[in-house]
Amino acid sequence: MAKTKSAFFCQECGHEAPKWLGKCPSCNAWNTFVEEKIVSTKSSTVAFSANKAVKNEPRLMQDISMADQMRVDSGDLELNRVLGGGIVPGSLMLFGGEPGIGKSTLLLQFAVNTGSKVLYISGEESEQQIKMRAERIGINNQNCFILTETCMQRIFDQIEQVKPEILIIDSIQTLYSEEIESTPGSISQIKECTAAFLRFAKDSQIPIFVVGHITKDGSLAGPKVLEHMVDVVLHFEGDRNHVYRLLRTVKNRFGSTHEIGIYEMLSSGLRPVLNPSEILIGNNPDALSGVAIAATIEGIRPLLIEVQALVSTAAYGTPQRSSTGFDLRRLNMLLAVLEKRCGFRLGVKDVFLNIAGGIKVVDPATDLAVVAAILSSNADIPIEKSICLAAEVGLSGEIRPVNRIEQRVYEAEKLGFTKIIISAQNKGLDKLRENLNIEVVACSKIQQVVKALFA
Ligand code: TYD
Ligand code: MG
Repeated sequence: MAKTKSAFFCQECGHEAPKWLGKCPSCNAWNTFVEEKIVSTKSSTVAFSANKAVKNEPRLMQDISMADQMRVDSGDLELNRVLGGGIVPGSLMLFGGEPGIGKSTLLLQFAVNTGSKVLYISGEESEQQIKMRAERIGINNQNCFILTETCMQRIFDQIEQVKPEILIIDSIQTLYSEEIESTPGSISQIKECTAAFLRFAKDSQIPIFVVGHITKDGSLAGPKVLEHMVDVVLHFEGDRNHVYRLLRTVKNRFGSTHEIGIYEMLSSGLRPVLNPSEILIGNNPDALSGVAIAATIEGIRPLLIEVQALVSTAAYGTPQRSSTGFDLRRLNMLLAVLEKRCGFRLGVKDVFLNIAGGIKVVDPATDLAVVAAILSSNADIPIEKSICLAAEVGLSGEIRPVNRIEQRVYEAEKLGFTKIIISAQNKGLDKLRENLNIEVVACSKIQQVVKALFA
């Protein structure tokens, strides 16, 4: 019988302490320590050394073969893209996202459409529920096993029986190991279960997808060490009231983290969106005031996005500023720049900003389109539908350059835009292809942009 002891764990970062502490010395969070019983077995301490029986020896770099790093096609173009070209055997992939965003749907859809033998382990839904959902998506895989189980030891018994080629766990927070006495979802359980799956993945070369819940502030629930342990961390995000979902790579040991996948949530599951720009731009035939198109880059994909603004006289004392999909502080900064540097009297106006499609943009190149949309709504003059913008706006009202300008210009050209407004300081303009079908207008001040848009 192993000796039982207990320790206190910070629920934010996983810091372990022998006694209760008010403030975590590691992440400085207050009142986050919870006592958890741990049974000291060897298993949790050998998490990273895969198979102790086989002794590893140092090998020359040139002698290591790449053959065993072959990627498996997941059957889903967007998922392949995000993973860096396919699933790497033996990789442990963590899949985070808010409740109801579609994590289970995406993984189930993958499970019932791939050609491999899949074991889908759910600790959250019953077999019937999963079957109902799978029926809606359409089942094309005759080799998809469903297991509803939360005990790690029994899960591994079943894995041995079924011998799957791909394993899906939904979710890590519902599982528990009998070797640890604390409740499912506690830090030590999550750590132990993940370590067990990691060992299994490396030993068996079976790729494992693990769903992880995220906390209120948007980080993955469980300690940061979880993200260090796994090979790939993916985030599934989007506005639940909209149909579009973004799959983002946060960490990828086998590829770049600049990839995103875009899906549309339909009643028959998630449909990969291969030409996102065409969907994110409204197709209203009339030009409307307060609408501007930004040529942004999400990950490494160029994406043209519609920015909508509404500027109206404030009805009450303090003007309101509200923003969906765009950083509110950044909006306030841009409004201050317009007021102070360019003389637009927006201090007494309500300003509402919205990025179409429920998408969140972080690319600074959206700035100029935000400014243009605000000015357009303020003056109630529409911007021509064939114009798009891509530049950052600095604190002194200067138009700043952005990266990957060629990609933005080409995407805008491809979608039929005839004019793109960028920064005069942008480098790489000389690299642009000759005989472009789009006019590139370089500006260095907001006043020049106003002229180009409304003159
Ligand atoms: P789900 O995959 O259960 O979310 P998570 O596992 O991330 O918590 O997402 C379910 C949501 O998706 C639910 O609100 C209904 C919606 N949905 C569809 O719109 N179409 C579908 O075909 C399916 C299966 C779900
Ligand atoms: Mg789920």
